[in-house]
Amino acid sequence: MTEALSARGIEQVAGVLLDLGVSSPQLDEAGRGFSFMRDGPLDMRMDTTSGETAAAWLARAEESEIREVIRDYGEERFAKQIAAAIVDARGREPLLTTPQLAEVVARAVRTREPGQHPATRTFQALRIHLNQELEELEVTLPQAAALLEPGGRLAVISFHSLEDRVVKTFIREQSTADKLPRGLPVRAADIPPAPMRAIGKAIKPSDAEVARNPRSRSAVLRVAEKNSPSPVGEGRGEGPR
Ligand SMILES: C[S@@+](CC[C@H](N)C(=O)[O-])C[C@H]1O[C@@H](n2cnc3c(N)ncnc32)[C@H](O)[C@@H]1O
Repeated sequence: MTEALSARGIEQVAGVLLDLGVSSPQLDEAGRGFSFMRDGPLDMRMDTTSGETAAAWLARAEESEIREVIRDYGEERFAKQIAAAIVDARGREPLLTTPQLAEVVARAVRTREPGQHPATRTFQALRIHLNQELEELEVTLPQAAALLEPGGRLAVISFHSLEDRVVKTFIREQSTADKLPRGLPVRAADIPPAPMRAIGKAIKPSDAEVARNPRSRSAVLRVAEKNSPSPVGEGRGEGPR
């Protein structure tokens, strides 16, 4: 982000909006392989010019790796059974399409979450892993904060708890002034303010929005504002009043 903006001669911005995750066109285009609802190749790359497809990764990954990715990024309690089923299935024939994977997963998932396809969590997990979504988010947030001018705002829309946890933690850390060791002869006025402040609480879609756009149901919007740096020592009568 910093590079892309500085290539355009932009050093500071008044606001950054991040709309995370996969887009509707990506979900709806069978050829992108993001959705178990459409028959397509097992790809799942957001950037199809680089990276490994889901089919290629599932063909070479260790059972333990597959289990960990599905457990950690899908929060799937049947990760162990699903990983074993994937390894068993690929031993018979390569998993190349979204329906193939969805079927293998559906057989391995013993219980059903109401209104949710049994492969939902596995597909989400593979997508997050293959696109390094959480890692990308962790390197993007500090850049966004650094690019903001004082008073500028960061707004992030996330779509699942793992993303939202990263955003929430970042905003909390940025909204906490440095804690100095006790007994240090520093006056409160001399402690630099926290870089940012959270604006309100997490914003969730209204029932009307979810009715209009069911894909918004898990969206969470969090906003933080860049604080103006206060010149250290102003309280001491030094420097401009
Ligand atoms: C939720 S969609 C944005 C949808 C768009 N705001 C809209 O309303 O139509 C997120 C987009 O970010 C892209 N994306 C994912 N990771 C990215 C990254 N690291 N850098 C830039 N774009 C990324 C995805 O390919 C996807 O198209």
